[in-house]
Amino acid sequence: MSRYHAFLEQLRASVGAAHVLTEGDLVAWEQDWRKRERGKALAVVRPGSTEEVAQVVQACAQHQVSLVPQGGNTGMVVGSTPDASGTQIVLSLQRMQRIRRLDPANLTVTVEAGCVLQSLQQACADAGYLFPLSLASQGSCTIGGNLATNAGGTQVLRYGTARELCLGLEVVNAEGAVWQGLSGLRKDNTGYDLRHLFIGSEGTLGVITAATMKLYPLPVATLTAFAAVPSLAAAVRLLGLAQQQLGSGLTGFEVMGQFALGLVRKHFAQLPVPFDGSSAYCVVLENADHESEDHARQLFERLLEHALQDGCAVDAVVAASLAQARQLWQVRESIPLAQAQEGLNIKHDISLPVSSIPAFVEETAAAIEQACAGARLVNYGHLGDGNLHFNVQAPAGADAEAFLRDQEGPINALVYDAVARYQGSISAEHGIGSLKREKLVQHKSPVALDWMHSIKRALDPHNRMNPGRLLTPPAP
Ligand code: FAD
Ligand code: MLT
Ligand code: ZN
Repeated sequence: MSRYHAFLEQLRASVGAAHVLTEGDLVAWEQDWRKRERGKALAVVRPGSTEEVAQVVQACAQHQVSLVPQGGNTGMVVGSTPDASGTQIVLSLQRMQRIRRLDPANLTVTVEAGCVLQSLQQACADAGYLFPLSLASQGSCTIGGNLATNAGGTQVLRYGTARELCLGLEVVNAEGAVWQGLSGLRKDNTGYDLRHLFIGSEGTLGVITAATMKLYPLPVATLTAFAAVPSLAAAVRLLGLAQQQLGSGLTGFEVMGQFALGLVRKHFAQLPVPFDGSSAYCVVLENADHESEDHARQLFERLLEHALQDGCAVDAVVAASLAQARQLWQVRESIPLAQAQEGLNIKHDISLPVSSIPAFVEETAAAIEQACAGARLVNYGHLGDGNLHFNVQAPAGADAEAFLRDQEGPINALVYDAVARYQGSISAEHGIGSLKREKLVQHKSPVALDWMHSIKRALDPHNRMNPGRLLTPPAP
């Protein structure tokens, strides 16, 4: 009889045999979204309540089994799938989707961790409120995963990251105890703010089972524009103008290099990408207004007129309808999908002071070309937050696997050294997972790393919560 027989029986008794998957095709839980790695799960366990999550974690503690929390499995850094050992369980939160309470007067919503982001946005909109977190993966990613990765996306400029939207958490710790921290308070100075430990912890400290999140009034009108800009420096100038003229109305400012847009033209031919591709970059801007659509349009048109006069934009279009606005956003949001279709690639999710971005890109693009002639730069991102997805695709016609094998190390080193020189971060919004673990050791201060290990030891002394992710495992 297998060493895990009693363990699996205990799980079946807790969550029901139908929710302990050990056979059949488990690829959806075992392989990461980017297809970088396929692991092997001892079982995929799907609890339906916080009590059941606690029982599963208690069983793991009792039988010394480690677990990998998983939401929508859309993470970019190989953090939500099991390793290849066949000894870890995937703890999927997908069945925990309930919205427990929407409190209009407090402008908060309390929701279970497995709720898909888009379902939460829709439920809030139906009730007349805005839940602003917004990512291209929102049809699959979950609020628990968003918090565990401190997700960013396209509205951070105005509303902040998942961390800034979160007021309280419910968490199951490594021993299977439940911490009820579902506060809807905006002020609470009663010592260490524990929720912040779990936000961005990538499942390494506990399992988030529910959260209380901030809501906002729905804007009266939301307009989208698409502009062609001659350079990144011009895009930064346009961002400054937009901030000055739109103030807090500016909710999104995304930049896209022409090569990235070319991939969308190639792989999503049905999507009309505006303009002819002759400008170096394009940007998408969003303006949310609480007065009227006319007011929003006037402000936007004035801004774009200034930009054209200034030369920081060479062409611009404002969406005439919601359907057109959706299409413009789809162009931006299709870039990661188009890139995935083009083949395996080297991803860099970096942040830098906005003012340094043009110089960083010029210098680093030249260094990449020198290191690997013909490598193609897929450069786009959340310029308003200083966050670039500075990705590198194999030279045209080259073998993508060989490119990754031979070039990932040197190109990562080159990019991350430049990021360090410009005082940026090697992970702006995707996290560390297992892909960037070694890089974290090189780029995080030793003092900070030491504190992170101390926190991990205090909350998960037996290293059972998503081991080997984010932090390098302790020596045996
Ligand atoms: P998963 O991928 O399942 O898990 C991610 C990490 O969180 C893992 O370490 C996992 O163990 C942990 N985790 C998951 N749920 C829990 C839980 N309940 N408790 C504790 N730990 C947990 N990210 C951005 O930040 N901005 C973007 O704009 C963005 N765009 C994307 C676009 C596409 C097309 C795709 C595929 C991904 C994108 N992402 C983006 C990355 C990804 O969607 C986010 O990281 C998202 O927050 C992950 O949510 P998830 O539910 O899929 O989590
Ligand atoms: C995005 O902004 O599109 C995402 O973070 C995903 C990605 O970069 O691949
Ligand atoms: Zn992004």
